[in-house]
Amino acid sequence: MLLLPLLVSFPLLFNLMFAMQNSALYRYPTGRASFGKFKCDPFYFLWEEKLTSSMVEDKLDCTFLCVGEPKCYSFNIAVYPDSKGLYLCELLATDKYREAEKVHANATFHHCSPSSPCESAPCKNGGVCVPEYERNSYHCECKPVFCGTHCKRYKWNRTCSDIKYCNPEAKNGSYVIDPDGEGGVKPFKVFCDMTDKDGIGVTVVSHDSENRTLVAGFEAPGSYWRNVTYDETSLIQLTSLTASSAHCEQFIKYECYHSVILSNDDMYGWWVSRDDEKMKYWGGVNSVPFKCACGLTDTCADSSYGCNCDKNDLNWREDSGLLTDKSKLPVIQMRFGDTGDIVLYNESGYHTLGPLECYGLI
Ligand SMILES: *[C@@H]1O[C@H](CO)[C@@H](O)[C@H](O)[C@H]1NC(C)=O
Ligand SMILES: *[C@@H]1O[C@H](CO)[C@@H](O)[C@H](O)[C@H]1NC(C)=O
Ligand SMILES: *[C@@H]1O[C@H](CO)[C@@H](O)[C@H](O)[C@H]1NC(C)=O
Ligand SMILES: *[C@@H]1O[C@H](CO)[C@@H](O)[C@H](O)[C@H]1NC(C)=O
Ligand SMILES: *[C@@H]1O[C@H](CO)[C@@H](O)[C@H](O)[C@H]1NC(C)=O
Ligand SMILES: *[C@@H]1O[C@H](CO)[C@@H](O)[C@H](O)[C@H]1NC(C)=O
Repeated sequence: MLLLPLLVSFPLLFNLMFAMQNSALYRYPTGRASFGKFKCDPFYFLWEEKLTSSMVEDKLDCTFLCVGEPKCYSFNIAVYPDSKGLYLCELLATDKYREAEKVHANATFHHCSPSSPCESAPCKNGGVCVPEYERNSYHCECKPVFCGTHCKRYKWNRTCSDIKYCNPEAKNGSYVIDPDGEGGVKPFKVFCDMTDKDGIGVTVVSHDSENRTLVAGFEAPGSYWRNVTYDETSLIQLTSLTASSAHCEQFIKYECYHSVILSNDDMYGWWVSRDDEKMKYWGGVNSVPFKCACGLTDTCADSSYGCNCDKNDLNWREDSGLLTDKSKLPVIQMRFGDTGDIVLYNESGYHTLGPLECYGLI
């Protein structure tokens, strides 16, 4: 490694000291000072059009020439001197990182490029590592089908999170996604909310049962039913969406007036999972049976039940929260009961079900 400081005047000193610690190649903007730390690959040659060729006494001279030439970013230097003891020094306008495929083993040359974190080949999938010498940093220029800081991700359109990851500027709107990639389920149209959840890209699938809807006049357990139909998508497509997302959730709420839902093991209301399973827990709970959100924190209106509604009294109450087990979502049906006694108690309820929302990269 060659270190080449050319300190000139005091006002530059501070900037330069700082730059030297971090930079492999630094040229002060006014051209009054510069230095370079070069690393050589013995017996390699970078095949590029040269800026200049000169005969020099040693490698340090060649380094000086490169640092002094604003366009120079690397050089090739002959292994053996000529008859006068001088070495051929070729200055190049690029470096071995940007032109990696043009570096070849060579019996008569060494190649020298500035030190850079690009040496560890951080850019994957054929991405080009572009050094930022002054900051001892780099960025990757990915091949068109890859994205991400290190080009590690294939440019899928599997979910809105995928789309957002590869296009950070993407705005809210309707997009076509294909959760399982090519083949398999057909691509389908969804709404991408590109601002919610810190802008990760949320796939939103709406359905026909989002409006707050009255339940009244159905007494037997589950005698009221509401089938949920998702916009322009099949259950297989939605299952595939949940598999390609890190998280999925769906908001569910029941407002009740003298109308119970889970009622410990005597259920009158429940939701049905995508596999047609009668689910025993409510929004805000992950799996604990016969519990609503208040049941997890022991804050229900009647502590002997797992839900506020189970108190079954003459007050409007509600149980709500997010369903988050993506292996059960989306909700395909809601069932209620205990709203038959309209004369005496005016029993009734309202259900509300949010769209299916999935987000996060996997
Ligand atoms: C090494 O590079 C020189 C200069 O371009 C070229 O003439 C020579 O053929 C190369 N030698 C080998 C072995 O690649
Ligand atoms: C993703 O969608 C964009 C825009 O519609 C399209 O140009 C691109 O080819 C798609 N990528 C894949 C892998 O299907
Ligand atoms: C994106 O859509 C969501 C949901 O409709 C909305 O809350 C948000 O404000 C929208 N953001 C922009 C920038 O339009
Ligand atoms: C939901 O309510 C809105 C506003 O009242 C109405 O325009 C819309 O048609 C309703 N949607 C369904 C599916 O009933
Ligand atoms: C709701 O779905 C169930 C099961 O798929 C079906 O048997 C029933 O007929 C549907 N009810 C309505 C009102 O569409
Ligand atoms: C009974 O419940 C319905 C629906 O919530 C409401 O519109 C109505 O005013 C109630 N009637 C009485 C007598 O409380």
